[in-house]
Amino acid sequence: MPRDDIWVTMKVWWERLEHDALQEARELWLIRHYGVSNFTAPLLEEAMNASGGKGIINNQFEVSPFLANRKLVDATQRLGVTVTTYMRLSEGRAHNDSTIRAIAEKHHATPAQVAFAWLLTRDIMVITTSTNPEHQQSNWEAQKLKLDATDIAKLDALDEERCNANPSFAPKW
Ligand SMILES: NC(=O)c1ccc[n+]([C@@H]2O[C@H](COP(=O)([O-])OP(=O)(O)OC[C@H]3O[C@@H](n4cnc5c(N)ncnc54)[C@H](OP(=O)(O)O)[C@@H]3O)[C@@H](O)[C@H]2O)c1
Repeated sequence: MPRDDIWVTMKVWWERLEHDALQEARELWLIRHYGVSNFTAPLLEEAMNASGGKGIINNQFEVSPFLANRKLVDATQRLGVTVTTYMRLSEGRAHNDSTIRAIAEKHHATPAQVAFAWLLTRDIMVITTSTNPEHQQSNWEAQKLKLDATDIAKLDALDEERCNANPSFAPKW
């Protein structure tokens, strides 16, 4: 695989980040791009208006069939910032959901692939983690899965607007 096809994402813990530091890191060619994670829409706007903020290209936060996070996805994309999601399987819940399983069976796919494909229909990038080569291959192939309008409507209806990731230092969602 050519180097340009590989995207390495690293995180800097928020308490360690000095104001403007990311822009400086890009100017020094230590990184190619920078973004933020778990920023609400007001926080993202504030960051984009701060020095170096125009360089923010991505906001990474939780989106899954059980947390569509529509307001934040729309606000982020409207600001010209791309969205990456984590926890698309909602800590394993997607594997056993009867709606997701039925859609997966219809397409000869897995529930994990269905959750992946649904996020792609919303122009959301998906970050996954797997120690299992079969799962890694399956995640890669999920890009080819095409959901129809009925599948998408059923998946949209699963939204419960509830975060899994909500540590004590999380913003007020
Ligand atoms: N910014 C943040 O606040 C934040 C929060 C959480 C996570 N993250 C990041 O997001 C990345 C992804 O983490 P995640 O928790 O969202 O990953 P995920 O892919 O949603 O879930 C990982 C779990 O799902 C299993 N899995 C993965 N692909 C599968 C497949 N195709 N079929 C069946 N099981 C599958 C894995 O088990 P196997 O190993 O057995 O495949 C693993 O137990 C990580 O780099 C993490 O650091 C960021």
